[in-house]
This record gives sequence, C-alpha cells and structure tokens, in this order.
Amino acid sequence: MSALASCGLLLVLGLRALAEQNDDSSGKERFCLEKLADHLSRPVALEMIGEDVLIGEHRGKISRMNLHTGIVSDVVDLSGRLLTSQSWMDHRGLLSLLVVQTDDVEKPRRTLLLTSSRTSSNPEADHDTVISAIPFDENGKLDVEKEYELTRVSQPSNRYNGGQLLAQLDKGFLYLTTGDGAMKYQQSKRFDMDSSNGKILKMKIKLPSSSEADELASVRERSIFASGFRNPWRCALDTREVSRGRTQFFCGDTAIDPHPEEEIFLVRQGKRYGFPIAEAQADDEQAIYKYSLETGAAVVGGRVYKGNGLPSLNDTFLFGDYVSGKIFTLAEAPSGVWKANDLNASDWCSSSTPAKLHIVAFAENHYGDLLILADDASRDGSQKGMILKLRQISGASKPLSGYGKYIAIGLLFFFFQTVI
Ligand SMILES: *[C@@H]1O[C@H](CO)[C@@H](O)[C@H](O)[C@H]1NC(C)=O
Ligand SMILES: *[C@@H]1O[C@H](CO)[C@@H](O)[C@H](O)[C@H]1NC(C)=O
Repeated sequence: MSALASCGLLLVLGLRALAEQNDDSSGKERFCLEKLADHLSRPVALEMIGEDVLIGEHRGKISRMNLHTGIVSDVVDLSGRLLTSQSWMDHRGLLSLLVVQTDDVEKPRRTLLLTSSRTSSNPEADHDTVISAIPFDENGKLDVEKEYELTRVSQPSNRYNGGQLLAQLDKGFLYLTTGDGAMKYQQSKRFDMDSSNGKILKMKIKLPSSSEADELASVRERSIFASGFRNPWRCALDTREVSRGRTQFFCGDTAIDPHPEEEIFLVRQGKRYGFPIAEAQADDEQAIYKYSLETGAAVVGGRVYKGNGLPSLNDTFLFGDYVSGKIFTLAEAPSGVWKANDLNASDWCSSSTPAKLHIVAFAENHYGDLLILADDASRDGSQKGMILKLRQISGASKPLSGYGKYIAIGLLFFFFQTVI
C-alpha cells in the first residue's frame, strides 16, 4: 500500500471515529441485533462448548457453530426419538440443552443434558418431558448412542409444557420448569402439590466422575421448588450476584384465560406464584412485573446481563416477548418498584427498522454477550430461525470513545502536514 493510500485510510478511520463521537453526544443509547447465524428451524437452546456453541432446534436437530467463523455443522438429529410436529401450536420437541462438566482441570468430563418430549407410558398423559444425558467422548464428540434417561414428568397436553433446565452446579442442583399443560384454566394443576405440572422442580444431580469411564449422571431428591405457574418457558438463574450475596431466579410466565397478563416472577423456594384466582392464598407471591396485549402476548424470560460490551445494562435482567418481538430491560428502582424499558432494538444493525422477530429464548457466550434465539415473524414454516447478538450502536458510556476525537484530530493534522 502506498503512503498516500495508507494515510487516506487512516483519515477515513479517523473521520469515522469523529463521526461516532458526534453521535455519542446525544447521550442516547441505541441497540441493534447483529445476525450471527440464520437458516435455523426454531432454535430453542444455545450452549457454549469450548470456542463453539451447540444449537438445539425445536424439532430435534443439534448443530455446532464456531462463533468466530459463523460456520455451522450438523451434530445429530434427534427428531426420530422425540415427539414433535410442524405445527406452531404444538409445544413438544427438543426444549432445552445444558452442558455440564466435572470440575477437575486436567480431564474435565463433559455431558450434555437435554429436555425433550417423549412417548409416555402413562395412559392419562399426552407425553412426558424427559431429562436425558448424552456423554461427550474423549474427542469431544457427542456419543448419541449412549443417551440415557435421568427423570421424567407426565404432561396432560401438547401445549404449555415449560421444559427449561437450569443448573446451580456448585451446589449440585438442577432445576426444571414444567408448565401446567392445561387447555382450560380450571384443569390446571399448578397449585396441586401432588402434581409436577405448573412447577419449578429442584433436583440434586450427581455428575459422572472423570476417573470412572462408565459412570453415569444421576438425579435424586426431586422436589417442588416453587408452584403456581402457567408456562415458565424460560427463566434466568443468576448465581453470580456476589455483591449482594444472593441468588436471583427470574421467571417469565405466560397468561391464561381469563387472566390476560404476562408476568415476571422473582422465584424463591417454597413459594406459590400465579395470579389472584379463587384458589389464591393471602401469602401468594405477586409478579414483580406484568404486561398485557399492547406490549406482547408471550413472555420469554431472559438473562441477567454480566458482559462487558454494554455497560449500561450491567446487572439488569433482560427479557423478550415471542409475539411482539420486543426486548426489555427490567431493573429494580431504589423504591423497590421494578421498571421495564423497551430497548427499541433495530434489526440486524444494518437498518433502523424495528426488528420483527419471534423471540424464542436467550443465551450468552463466554464473554457474557447477550444472544437471542429467534424466528422471523413470517411464520411460514421455512428455516428462518436466527441467532442474534445484542449490540449498542452508540452510547454515552463507551469507554474508548473519548479518545476517538483526539485520534481523529491528530490524524487530520498528520494528513495535512505530510501528504498535502
Ligand atoms: C457490573 O457491576 C458489578 C457490581 O454489581 C461490578 O463488579 C462489575 O465490574 C460491573 N461490570 C461492568 C462491565 O461494568
Ligand atoms: C424506547 O422508546 C420508548 C418510547 O419512545 C422510550 O420511552 C424508551 O426510553 C426507549 N428505550 C431506549 C433504551 O432508548
């Protein structure tokens, strides 16, 4: 490259830095979604595995994507083992993935835990939600033939089945959200403590040790952690809240007729949730936030943001809505009131039009970036599922931007001195 060309390039970069700096002076943060992968069919789960991610699709396909290159390769198609269908109304399928590993540094042993809908032997059930495990072999490949079952929950219908797995592995706990599966609200067993439906279940999990090759993961002491839910499809368990010394368990729960509101709960052990209905008790826990149809119609619980890229969102809970496609932050004001704010995220970071998406789930990568698993809103059954990353277009708190101006001015000075 000639000296002139490189100076020209530097000038362009400098001017860009200057322009960005000017943008920042508005002090208003704007967010957009960067597409990391597409042509997926309803992605429901994303888990980090080394430098790659495992992506689980609702109909049972699991693929592996390199986050840097964006290259996606097939891992396994479990659709033959699951109950699922093409219908948007059918909630059965692959529901959740969770990579767990033993904590010995030398030779950590990895296992993939998954929840999916399988045939039930219970004549009254539509199907069972099954937690199963697939070991990774020593080359890091999933040994699908060695899949084994850990536990199962019968489901009364093919809708509102929950199905997310969450882990608090330092304590050896695993949680499963179940959904009440009720087609009518009168049939809901959400408050029935003999039923596992409409609950968050807590289990003790024993991971296979690294030394015994044949040892299997096992689940024991399954109990009801909290009750009263409709369909807690996605929750966020923030165990890293070191500063305030507490664990926060956020759950989004969908509305049920005749109760029209989507709700977000802060879940605690042994508590009853749910809306004020006939069976309600005086000490039932209330939602920390609720919204109705003008905002959305199917809440999807998200993540507590801990990444470095979006400092203004640090420690806030983010959630979305499947129907409206909006993404919100939810934060507790000093008064103790929880306030939500629409991020007004625009699509693909390449235009300013609001994103039109069906938000299915949230995930994060090693860097704590917020990833969004979504379907295009066209709903025509084609492979329009995507993985998106939340980014900031411009922001007052970008740490390096203050230098941009000086770099730009310096470069301009250099350019005019040396070249012209
Ligand atoms: C986020 O907040 C926590 C305290 O709650 C702090 O320790 C951490 O450094 C903050 N991270 C960023 C990126 O600002
Ligand atoms: C999104 O738009 C609404 C309405 O204009 C506004 O109140 C809100 O602050 C915006 N959110 C952000 C993050 O800018």
